[in-house]
Amino acid sequence: MMSTDGFRFSTVGQKIVDTASLPMDSEPEILSLRPERLSEYVGQARTIETLRIGIEAAHQRGEIIDHVLFHGPPGLGKTTLAHIIANEIGGKLIITSGPALEKGGDLIGMLTQLEAGDVFFIDEIHRLSRSVEELLYPAMEDFCIDFVFDKGLHARSHRFRLKQFVLVGATTRVGLLSSPLRHRFGIFRNLDFYSPQELETIIHRNAFLLDQPIDVEGTAELAVRSRGTPRIANRLLKRVRDYAQVKCGGRVDRRAVAEALELEGIDSLGLTPLDRQYLGTIITYYNGGPVGIEAVAATLQEETDTLVDVVEPFLLKTGLIIRTSSGRKASDAAFAHLGFVREEQCR
Ligand SMILES: Nc1ncnc2c1ncn2[C@@H]1O[C@H](COP(=O)(O)OP(=O)(O)OP(=O)(O)O)[C@@H](O)[C@H]1O
Ligand SMILES: [Mg+2]
Repeated sequence: MMSTDGFRFSTVGQKIVDTASLPMDSEPEILSLRPERLSEYVGQARTIETLRIGIEAAHQRGEIIDHVLFHGPPGLGKTTLAHIIANEIGGKLIITSGPALEKGGDLIGMLTQLEAGDVFFIDEIHRLSRSVEELLYPAMEDFCIDFVFDKGLHARSHRFRLKQFVLVGATTRVGLLSSPLRHRFGIFRNLDFYSPQELETIIHRNAFLLDQPIDVEGTAELAVRSRGTPRIANRLLKRVRDYAQVKCGGRVDRRAVAEALELEGIDSLGLTPLDRQYLGTIITYYNGGPVGIEAVAATLQEETDTLVDVVEPFLLKTGLIIRTSSGRKASDAAFAHLGFVREEQCR
């Protein structure tokens, strides 16, 4: 059953996901920009092909697709793909996350309510507690769960049989996943940043859905400034739409995009103020590096996790920083982009 805000209810009627704890991208308005089927999905071609083949083959055999793990930086489509898998196999999507499953009972409660062919999505799966994770192993492998009542002399174990569900896990930190958990996923895909051309297609489609005319040059400009990330493209498209409506009579062209993004602090490469502060810190405080991430985080007064999960992947991808065994280094391109000259070059 769907609620008015787009989330499903469990069979006992309570809301399975608490919208207050959901990330920004899951807001109902943006949900409508999500592609619903594999055929509508832009980019991640190999992942889409793997899923298409897996779903089709399982369907032909009358089975369900193997458990799927997606990993990669935020906003690249992990949650969207979980929605799509549920749509393609015609099951319900039940959403939870690693930190929300505090106790074994929380997991058992959710697993025992699943119907055959449902998709059970665990976001931030690397943050599952050890005890919950161990309960998940037999659930994934044999579709059963062993629950121990009482302790010591009175301990009794009860085996619940589960319906055949598909577990979809998502993580931004695959390195933190234990290897027994990782190996229980049959399909294991890394989502990479999108090319500007792929983002152009996504922006074009979403501008159409938002009923916002945008010209080819404006689309291209927005695409290169979206940090390779559809979620950012969607967010910036809305800011540009507001700007154009108020300042440019609704017309979105390259100038409107550049001006609107200037206001947002997004530069020509799509770097955010935090990206530039991060690079600026390595360059000015640590002479370009190498420097440990903890030191950069302390100087910036930011969480290390935010820097590792959100800031660094794109800077690494675009070659603005380099990771070495002794820490992070700013590349020549980073010096040039921020308008600094390396000290050695001055001597
Ligand atoms: N291939 C795509 N085509 C069009 N839009 C996309 C695509 N991938 C993602 N999006 C859009 O980007 C937004 C973010 O995607 P999604 O929520 O799936 O990211 P995520 O990888 O789950 O991020 P997080 O790790 O932060 O949870 C969604 O609102 C969706 O509309
Ligand atoms: Mg997500």
